[in-house]
Amino acid sequence: MRLTVNGRVHTLDSALPLSLLELLRDRLALTGTKFVCGRGECGACTVQLDGETVYSCLTLAEACDGATVLTVEGLASGGGEPSLSPIQRAFIAKDAAQCGFCTPGQLMAAHTLLARNPHPTDDEIRSGMSGNLCRCGTYPKILAAVRAVADGEFAGSAEAGSVNAA
Ligand code: FES
Ligand code: FES
Repeated sequence: MRLTVNGRVHTLDSALPLSLLELLRDRLALTGTKFVCGRGECGACTVQLDGETVYSCLTLAEACDGATVLTVEGLASGGGEPSLSPIQRAFIAKDAAQCGFCTPGQLMAAHTLLARNPHPTDDEIRSGMSGNLCRCGTYPKILAAVRAVADGEFAGSAEAGSVNAA
């Protein structure tokens, strides 16, 4: 199977039945995407598949043949903080991560939301992020981070500037 991940094409043996999450973490060493519940309840494993957010723990890798995937590693345009996307910088500035385990999924959900709707209301942000749970309860700060990007506080490198915008 062929899969484009963060702009890079991979040709893989599809003999093993893997989830997309296992493929990303175990075959491609892209461990930014987290395994938490493994059953579609928490959103920690959220990635973009052809521009749509999916729970990669519930997505069969074989079904992704020919697809384009964006993971949290693809949000930044290079190394170091200056290369981070606006939503990544906003999460840092607004202190929106505590343990950080939910953060990659939260970032992918927020990135997709803002690509679709650059000026969401607070209710639209809450709705767009509702598939991603945070056991540390950082929801107000996550809302503040998404709100800040939507309000242009981190303007200068649009969300669309990452490897593979929605
Ligand atoms: S690990 Fe996939 S939804 Fe929780
Ligand atoms: S920051 Fe700990 S689960 Fe969200």
